[in-house]
Amino acid sequence: MRKTLLIALIALLGELKSYAQDNSNLAATPPMGWNSWNIFQTKIDEPLLKQMVDAYVSSGMRDAGYTYFVLDDGWMSMERDQNGQLVADPKKFPNGMKEFADYVHSKGMKFGIYNCAGSKTCAGYPGTRGHEYEDARLYASWGVDYFKYDWCNTDSLNAKEAYKTMSDALKASGRPIVFSLCEWGGHNPWLWNGIGQLYRTTGDINVSFVKPVKHGTWEAQSVLSILDKQETIRQYNHPGHWNDPDMLEVGNGLTNTEDKAHFSLWCMMSAPLMAGNNLEKMSDQTKTILTNKDVIALDQDALGVQCFKVYSDNGLEAWAKPLSNGDWAICFLNRTAQSQNINYDWSQHAINDDISKTNADFTKATFKLHDLWTKKDVGTTKRAFKQALASHDVIVLRLVKG
Ligand code: GLA
Repeated sequence: MRKTLLIALIALLGELKSYAQDNSNLAATPPMGWNSWNIFQTKIDEPLLKQMVDAYVSSGMRDAGYTYFVLDDGWMSMERDQNGQLVADPKKFPNGMKEFADYVHSKGMKFGIYNCAGSKTCAGYPGTRGHEYEDARLYASWGVDYFKYDWCNTDSLNAKEAYKTMSDALKASGRPIVFSLCEWGGHNPWLWNGIGQLYRTTGDINVSFVKPVKHGTWEAQSVLSILDKQETIRQYNHPGHWNDPDMLEVGNGLTNTEDKAHFSLWCMMSAPLMAGNNLEKMSDQTKTILTNKDVIALDQDALGVQCFKVYSDNGLEAWAKPLSNGDWAICFLNRTAQSQNINYDWSQHAINDDISKTNADFTKATFKLHDLWTKKDVGTTKRAFKQALASHDVIVLRLVKG
């Protein structure tokens, strides 16, 4: 009798498992979207966000490949309701979250939302701890397609287990939901294969190009400090599993040159591209950067290999990224405060990457050089590439197989 019961139980568990959502193919290329945090923090509400949704379409962001519209911290009421359910703040979202999600979907985008593994979110709203499955079911009922899960107020929680529990809950919800882990890199989340699709690698980005910025107990990151951190873990980046160097600050106060460099480097890293600016008020320059299809194509390349440094001299660097059709992307970066002269003799700089098992020997193969920002052809790898590069600027070349 006991044996029969056991067999029935095992069969039932097998059945339940087969109903769990298979999310392994949800992010073959790095997710692209917009997130409310960098520009609005918790000051979000339905009218403002609907303007952002409309601007997402009218600005050309959606047509350039951005897909997700993500609400970060600050969308909830301060307490769960009497049944323990999360509720959207009725003052901010008088028509409820389902209506807002429907609005996002009606414009051809996917909808994302935020919570935190701890007892409260970083901004003090109700966290998920102990409510993983009911919250996941609620999000699925609203039509959530993307979920960012933060790491504040977690006390002694085991990080990997906490993220695994939420991952299982999302899979059990029956709706395909991209899982964005926002653990800031403290417990090496890039080693947790299969739990989600995006793995935050550092603390929060700041509107700063060179130097991290101190905020009492924590330090906000800069574009370059994040780039350097990510270089050390590039072997973990691959389709379906993306190192996440945080959301973009393009349009939020860096110089136009720095914005261009920031965006180019994120694309070279095959990073998730989550814009974080005011879409309605964005300048033409910002729009040109965020919607550069040739640079986005590097980010979205099917190989999904994160770039690596192939040259470094006094703050002038070259980063390389192999592409799926045999082309290469090379990004020259000037980290310094002065203009520098590039004089790059390709024949002296063969590329050999043990991690992606790719290589290029420019004494044997010739590539045409196409500048992805000026849109000009600028010679071939037969001759040295010579150009001045302004402070904090980049030149991004596509090396096209001849
Ligand atoms: C943390 C995250 C940020 C943002 C805020 C919200 O700092 O790292 O990306 O989500 O919380 O409070």
